[in-house]
Amino acid sequence: MAKTIYLCGFMGCGKTTIGVKLSKMMGRSFVDMDDYIEKKHHLTIPEIFAQVGEQTFRQYETEAIQELSHQGNLVVATGGGAMTIERNGTLAKQNGIVLFLDAPFEDCYHRIAGDSNRPNAHSRTKKELLELYQARYPLYQKNSSYTVDASDSPLMIANRILQLYNR
Ligand code: S3P
Repeated sequence: MAKTIYLCGFMGCGKTTIGVKLSKMMGRSFVDMDDYIEKKHHLTIPEIFAQVGEQTFRQYETEAIQELSHQGNLVVATGGGAMTIERNGTLAKQNGIVLFLDAPFEDCYHRIAGDSNRPNAHSRTKKELLELYQARYPLYQKNSSYTVDASDSPLMIANRILQLYNR
């Protein structure tokens, strides 16, 4: 079973855009974990945060990683908080590799500012988001298998990942 590639990193770092591109280049199925959770629980992410809270959402993420880890051969875009939790990284790495997309804060910020579909961005000022980015950065590094420079175009980043994967 070919190892699933899990993309992690801060909100707006490009996990979904790059994941879709990479999955097409590799002929693999793509799973966006937020979409997976929304479909499974019949609620949107903002509804999950409002109705059951972030802690329960984090449990949903762990369950999703457990379920996806049985499949292999996927490209998965994880949610921005998923790989801040060590157990999730350990689960994902059992049958997969976890890549941290290291994009500069300003790039992420421009993509997420004011997005009402992202409760953890919508509820924070720019300064608070920078603090969250800085707090999470070492956790992404620690819980991933590799850090990938994600400051270029999606195509260049996807190619960089392919090279890394085929090495
Ligand atoms: C979150 C990131 C979101 C989503 C949820 C929580 C976070 O995913 O999982 O809103 O805490 O960083 P994206 O990184 O795709 O925005």
